This record gives sequence, structure tokens and C-alpha cells, in this order.
Amino acid sequence: MGEHGHNHDVLKALSPQHRALRQAIPDVYKAFNEMSAAALADGELSTYVEVPFPGPRQPHDMAFTENWTILNAPSLYWNVEARAAGYFVNTFHEDEPLRFALIPRHGSAAEVRWFEADPTFILHLTNAYEDGDEVVLDGFFEHNPGVWGGGSSNPKYPGFDALAIEAMDARAHRWRFNLRTGQTTEAPTSERCSEFSMINGQHAGRRHRYSYNALGVPGMFAFNGLLKHDLDAGTEEVLEAPPGVFLSEAPMAPRDNSTAEDDGYLLTFVSDVPNDRSECWVLDASCPSDGPLARISLPERISSGTHSTWAPAT
Ligand SMILES: [Fe+2]
Repeated sequence: MGEHGHNHDVLKALSPQHRALRQAIPDVYKAFNEMSAAALADGELSTYVEVPFPGPRQPHDMAFTENWTILNAPSLYWNVEARAAGYFVNTFHEDEPLRFALIPRHGSAAEVRWFEADPTFILHLTNAYEDGDEVVLDGFFEHNPGVWGGGSSNPKYPGFDALAIEAMDARAHRWRFNLRTGQTTEAPTSERCSEFSMINGQHAGRRHRYSYNALGVPGMFAFNGLLKHDLDAGTEEVLEAPPGVFLSEAPMAPRDNSTAEDDGYLLTFVSDVPNDRSECWVLDASCPSDGPLARISLPERISSGTHSTWAPAT
């Protein structure tokens, strides 16, 4: 949006949390509002690709595999007329496909492969990996992307009613892009609302089996539970927080010398509003529904958080 680079700035600030910083692959990619991808190597810009697209789009997250960078152009994007009137408003274009741009890593705009999928808006992606002729992308499909309501003083340009997982009806979803045929196949992988997923970062860009997702509080942008999703087995286990207790996105820390993908710990900051205190919970990533292994008291009650990341000390 030119001088009002709203998401541009947000994405620059958040990109390290957006699965762009993983120990598995030594690059950092950023998805910008104007649809471009940048690669950093040893802290220096090594690649910058502008992806041509008709008008401003609103990607919020991105993914990569060992050979591809994946950007998305959602079917929900800025209402240019509203912006001209001074409002930041999104319009869901239910007849416009969700589009994915697959860029060869360190490739050029001329090499972009476009794929189309069912219309929606993607808030967050989980991971992507290559499987023969296909690139597999896991993320969340919003079954109600056009959540209209308040948030604006002008009824002609209503804002979001609530950026709530339940309101957006976000559910885990898998897209498969066939590089040979150019076709997309897609299917939900869960019937339960969840979002803000984390994986073992050692599997970033490579095949993963498990994700650890947040469960949303109806009507609120807050998390009241954690779901471990076994994508191979199609099973889920849930840790529910007590009433008034809110979790944060839970990054996974592999155990030293870990032997399995879920051999490690989940870390989450917990805000206990009724008791006016906060803790960091350490959970066993193999069985988080058993409850915390350790609860570390924080000196202050902190705000319920969303994005988080974990990095080893060495
Ligand atoms: Fe985000």
C-alpha cells in the first residue's frame, strides 16, 4: 500500500517468528506485502525477487522447502476504494482463487510457478516439503475468511469483528502442488478449529509428522488450549487450560541428542488472569496433554501472547 505499508512493516517485524528462521536451512526469507521474497545469507541480502501481481495483496506468512520458496496471494485483500477514503479494510473475493507462487530458491521472477486453490485467506502456514513431483504445504484454511463486524467508525467500511480463530473457522489444511501437471489438490487434515502451529524446527522445509497448534477462545483473540496433531496417523491430543488461563504459541525445543521428531519440549507463556500471575510451562512434546513437566513463575503477569520462537543457546 505504498506509504501505508501496514503489513509490510508488520511482516518485517514478525518474520523471524513466521517459521522463517529455522536451524535446518541457513537462509531467512521474508514475505512482503508487495509480493517479494528476500534471502539472507550470513546476515547479508543475497537474493531479492519481486513477484509481479495485479495490485496489493496481503500475504501474512510464507513457507519454504529445500528447493522452493512459497508465497501466497489470498482471496481476501485490501479494499483500495476504502483505503482511498482513509480506512484499512479487507474484502473477501469469493470467486478469486487463492494463488500460490512457487519460486525456485535463489531463482528469479521468470521462474515462478503459479498454482490455484480454493478461495480463502491464510493467516499462518505450518511447513512445506517436497514429495516426488509434488510440493506439500500445510497450513490453515479459513472457512469464514470474511468476518465482518465492528472495528471501524464507517459502516460502509466495516473492519474485522474479531480476529478469533473460532470466528475465522480456521482448520488445518494440506495443499499439494504437482510440478508435473500444474494442478493443486487440497483437503482438510482436521475438523477442529486451531491455528498458530509450531513444528520441530529441524524439520522446517522437510517432511514433518507433528504440529503443535493453538486452540482459540470463542470471540477472543486468545488461546486456551494446545493441540498436538499427528498428521501421519490423523490423530490429535489436547491440553485445555483452566478458565481464564491463556497460553501462547508453543515453540518446540528438541531434546539434546533427540531421537524422534517429538522428542523434546514445548514452551509456552501462560497468563493466569484470575490469579494475576504468569508462568512459563515446559511440556513433553511427545505427550503434552499430560500437562506441564515444569512451571516457571514469572515476576509479573504478562499479556497473553501470540508469536514466539525458540533458539538453542549454542
Ligand atoms: Fe502472524
